[in-house]
Parts: sequence; structure tokens; C-alpha cells
Amino acid sequence: MSLDAIVGLRSSDLPQLENLLHANRLPTQDCAEQPEIFYGIYNHGALIAAGGLEPAENHVLLRSVVVHPQFRGRGLARRISEFLIGRAESEGRTAVYLLTETAANYFENLGFAAVSRENVPLSITRTRQFSALCPDSASCLVMTLPRQ
Ligand SMILES: CC(C)(COP(=O)(O)OP(=O)(O)OC[C@H]1O[C@@H](n2cnc3c(N)ncnc32)[C@H](O)[C@@H]1OP(=O)(O)O)[C@@H](O)C(=O)NCCC(=O)NCCS
Repeated sequence: MSLDAIVGLRSSDLPQLENLLHANRLPTQDCAEQPEIFYGIYNHGALIAAGGLEPAENHVLLRSVVVHPQFRGRGLARRISEFLIGRAESEGRTAVYLLTETAANYFENLGFAAVSRENVPLSITRTRQFSALCPDSASCLVMTLPRQ
């Protein structure tokens, strides 16, 4: 099976992005405000994987990492996450934060570590994902940059 490369998404990709996120129970409400923070992988014209990197001063929020159920277990989430972490690193960001309800173990395997909410910088807690869209029960994780 040939899959397309990771591409930057645009406004015209939003319907597919929002469908993919919604179908996998991830928030969509703030995607249209910032389509340029999202990247994805297409397969025969269908968006099958995506992820976003939301800047927050010298940090970033890795968010909206999602893979269509039919394409899971092939390393696509790892590819997208590594790509986005690499971008954050090359931009000189000092840490990547993320929130997840269901995939904390997944991201710990990628090198993230749990962090308590009181230790999360204000620039991150002020994002809409953090302050309004993700439930309080979501786990918060961090990876400091540059990677060792
Ligand atoms: C989590 C998710 C992105 C993983 O996508 P994926 O492309 O299948 O992941 P990869 O192929 O890179 O990795 C697969 C491995 O991760 C493991 N894994 C998958 N989901 C996991 C989870 N929620 N918790 C722990 N491990 C998980 C798989 O068992 C597999 O392990 P193996 O390599 O030992 O067989 C996908 O399941 C998904 O879209 N979930 C719904 C959305 C979500 O929860 N996103 C995260 C919050 S932003």
C-alpha cells in the first residue's frame, strides 16, 4: 500500500480534518481558526491521519493526533508525531505539551512524561484546547527539547 507524504493542511482540508477528528472523539471547535497548524497524510484522496502543532510562546501543544481506524498499527501516528516534534525542535521550542484521555501510554512510549497541571506554563494552559475543549480528566504530558 502506498501512502502519501505528510503535508501541511489548508482551509480546503478542514472538512476532512474535522470529520476524522469528530469520528474519533477529538475536539474540532478551534480547527477552522488555525488550519495552518495541522499536517496530515492522504491515501487516494482521503485524509487518513493528522496532527497539529499549536505554538504557545516558546512551547508548543501537540494536539489532534489521529489515525483512521483502518490504518492504525502501521506507525502513522509515530510518523506524524516525530515529524511535529522535529519541527518544534527546529523552531527552537523548549518543550512539547499534550493532553490525552486515551493514549497517555502511547505518548510515554514516544518519550513524553506525565506532568501535573500546576506545572504547565500559562502559555499552554491559555490555549483553547487546554482551557476549554479537553476535559479536566485528560492526562497532561511533556517532552522537553532539545531531545537528549
Ligand atoms: C493513538 C493513535 C493516534 C495511534 O495511532 P497508530 O497509527 O495506530 O499508532 P502507531 O502505529 O504509531 O503505533 C501503534 C502502537 O501503539 C499502540 N497503541 C495504539 N493506541 C494506543 C493507546 N491508546 N495507548 C497505548 N498504546 C497504544 C499499539 O498497540 C501499537 O503497539 P505495537 O507497535 O507494540 O503493536 C490512534 O489509535 C488514534 O487515532 N486514536 C484516537 C485518537 C486519540 O486518542 N489521539 C490521541 C490524543 S491527541
